[in-house]
Amino acid sequence: ARPIFLTRHGESQDNVEGRIGGDPPLSSRGEAYAPKLAEFLHKRLKQEPAASVWTSTLQRTLLTARYIVGYPKVQWRALDEIAAGVCDGMTYGDIKEKMPEEHKARKRDKLRYRYPAGESYLDVIQRLEPVIIELERQRSAVVIVAHQAVLRALYGYFADKPLKEVPHIDMPLHTLIELVPGVGGMTEKRYNLLP
Ligand code: G3H
Repeated sequence: ARPIFLTRHGESQDNVEGRIGGDPPLSSRGEAYAPKLAEFLHKRLKQEPAASVWTSTLQRTLLTARYIVGYPKVQWRALDEIAAGVCDGMTYGDIKEKMPEEHKARKRDKLRYRYPAGESYLDVIQRLEPVIIELERQRSAVVIVAHQAVLRALYGYFADKPLKEVPHIDMPLHTLIELVPGVGGMTEKRYNLLP
């Protein structure tokens, strides 16, 4: 019982260009994911006595969750994507070209690397603590619509992954992950909703 559903927002305009940060709207593929997600959850959540939907404060998560109706929605700033600081709005190619030392430092230690005036994965893991505490107190299903780095951290916590692996966890777009806590740990199902 008490499943936790995790999904990234639908593909954004910036995902298409490989640009990080910002507050972009969805691409047309991302727009196509939103009703698919709602359709799946409306069916699946019928089996649950109650559920709530948690998003970040960024429009790509709100737009992705907007067709999920009939459940309370909560916006968490703690679910916002890793802050890229001075690199916000750049592509990975831009960073490599204009700030090669930053690029190298991140490659060397992606877990601890902190963007100038931004965050590291460790920072993200730390700021998720209140979200995790609240999740563990929940008696009903929770759907989390968030971002790649944030979901790597949450998934890593629940799937008990070593910290150093967290920044590299595969977290594909348009895929809903269902985690169910059980006696021997979590069971996991993945649904690719936009094949
Ligand atoms: O900007 C945010 C990305 O979704 C995080 O991906 O940590 O692999 O660069 P990355």
